[in-house]
Amino acid sequence: MSVLITGVAGFVGTNLAQALLDKGLRVCGVDNLSRGTLQNMAALLKNPRFEFRQLEITEPGALLNACEHFAAHEAITECWHLAANSDIPAGVAEAAVDLKDTFMTTYVTLEVLKQLGIRKLAFASSSAIYGDHGSKALEEDLGPLLPISNYGAMKLASEAALSAAAETFLTNLWIFRFPNVIGVPATHGVMIDFVRKLKQTPNLLQVLGDGTQQKGYLHVEELIDAMLYIHRHATERRAIYNIGPADAGVTVQFIAEETVRVAQPTASIQYGEGNRGWVGDVPRFVYSIDKLKQLGWSPKLGSVQAVQKAIRQIVAQEQPA
Ligand SMILES: NC(=O)c1ccc[n+]([C@@H]2O[C@H](COP(=O)([O-])OP(=O)(O)OC[C@H]3O[C@@H](n4cnc5c(N)ncnc54)[C@H](O)[C@@H]3O)[C@@H](O)[C@H]2O)c1
Repeated sequence: MSVLITGVAGFVGTNLAQALLDKGLRVCGVDNLSRGTLQNMAALLKNPRFEFRQLEITEPGALLNACEHFAAHEAITECWHLAANSDIPAGVAEAAVDLKDTFMTTYVTLEVLKQLGIRKLAFASSSAIYGDHGSKALEEDLGPLLPISNYGAMKLASEAALSAAAETFLTNLWIFRFPNVIGVPATHGVMIDFVRKLKQTPNLLQVLGDGTQQKGYLHVEELIDAMLYIHRHATERRAIYNIGPADAGVTVQFIAEETVRVAQPTASIQYGEGNRGWVGDVPRFVYSIDKLKQLGWSPKLGSVQAVQKAIRQIVAQEQPA
């Protein structure tokens, strides 16, 4: 069986591709390498059951051509759609970024799947679709959904387009709403930002915001495990699941202190003002994973252990070879 992964060269994509190869599947991946890299895929590219095409997904002809090429060898039966903009502040500054990379990648992927008769799609959505609900638990059936970033808005629009496709040609749709996912190969996020800042100014770590922003963090290894579990066990035609840690998370202050402890123990930390790292950032949210627990999956690591593990891995990743 062959599967297509969009955004395969990115952080989650490379981990997912390896997990699917380990299950004995053939994996066909596409990415424009705007954020993902060939280096991220070094191990994958050595595997004879992995094929890669660099292309711009929002060009339908390019994606169709690649899929026809992949399918000539063995039919593609499902798609894991991960390609999106992952720089949320960039999308807040310029809405066109998320229109193209977060929504149009979904729209074009759907059109191509329809043409090729690929009827199963798993989608990487986000907790950002919910918006800011304060202390109210974010459950899958919460509404109205009022995202506060263009990224969240275009993820929600993608979910809507996918839902409509589940009424026409898709037979199976899995929507995974991720929290903050951490681990390697890190391509973006607060930890790699801190590690890189400390390389530039080894004595000082400057933090955006006052450090009180608190979020739940899930290690990418657990995320992949949960996605595969839901894919195997969920029975709904539109299976929508929050995936996250079972705790309320850790503060940015904790992440800053841990990063300094591991990377530059003598550095001091300077905080900014306000509890938002950037416009469109939800400062605190309570994420419910009750539905996922009822299905039978729970995370093994809490946010604290996930953060500590990821910081060690990212510091190692950023060491010169
Ligand atoms: N990492 C997280 O914390 C997190 C949280 C919530 C949701 N998600 C979602 O999970 C998915 C994977 O995220 P990630 O962390 O691996 O991000 P990433 O940036 O590492 O990977 C996304 C990949 O998509 C590619 N891409 C983007 N636009 C493209 C286009 N127009 N054509 C072709 N390729 C394109 C990029 O080059 C990149 O390799 C995304 O959909 C993201 O929105 C991630």
